[in-house]
Amino acid sequence: MITIALVSQKGGSGKTTLATHLAAKATQAGYVTCLIDTDPQATAAAWGDWRGKTDPEVITAPPARLARVIEDAQKLGAEFLVIDTPPFAEAAAREAVKAADVVLIPCRPRAFDLHAIQATADLIRSTRKAAYVVFNATPPRAPALIADASKMVESFGLEVAPMSLAERAAFNHSTANGRTAVETEPRGKAAEEIDQLWKWLCERASTPPQKHASGKAL
Ligand SMILES: Nc1ncnc2c1ncn2[C@@H]1O[C@H](COP(=O)(O)OP(=O)(O)OP(=O)(O)O)[C@@H](O)[C@H]1O
Ligand SMILES: [Mg+2]
Repeated sequence: MITIALVSQKGGSGKTTLATHLAAKATQAGYVTCLIDTDPQATAAAWGDWRGKTDPEVITAPPARLARVIEDAQKLGAEFLVIDTPPFAEAAAREAVKAADVVLIPCRPRAFDLHAIQATADLIRSTRKAAYVVFNATPPRAPALIADASKMVESFGLEVAPMSLAERAAFNHSTANGRTAVETEPRGKAAEEIDQLWKWLCERASTPPQKHASGKAL
């Protein structure tokens, strides 16, 4: 079973957007997928309700129950877990990081967000987990901005994913309807960015980007 955690102490950085997109992508790739929402705001769970179907399965879990919920999901046959976490909640982030094979840290490439990422960097440093910052909601063509932001993040001891996600209405509109940009605009730029992120993530997690011919439910 592969476990990915979306972690960032900063609110609104894109944790739930990436969690929902990656969970839907994993389902599409044929993995029995479970999205675990540990955020009391329950945004990912609401997305699952709006979606109205169980691929991926969306489960809420308070951080103290996370390890048990993961164990249960594995027993039920889950192959891919995505954990969404709350902002400003160190204990919850810590539990998710502990469970994860790969940690993704979404971050907007803006001064306040970059400053706030130090708290997340401190948390990651005390673990030995593979963790990568994914710049999110970037201006569409801003290589210099991303290069500068990367330097700053690297100075905190964090690695940066080689791709980023631009600010695109498709991310926002699709999730508001319980879907993802990959489903609403499969040939769009947002879907292409998610596809790149997915393939790279599978490489990091040593798992194939396409598993079964068709998705299976938990
Ligand atoms: N790449 C993007 N393009 C456009 N809108 C985006 C993008 N990423 C996130 N958003 C929007 O920004 C807002 C915050 O994103 P999201 O809820 O994913 O962040 P979060 O880190 O989960 O927030 P919180 O810390 O409150 O849980 C949402 O309205 C979402 O639709
Ligand atoms: Mg969220």
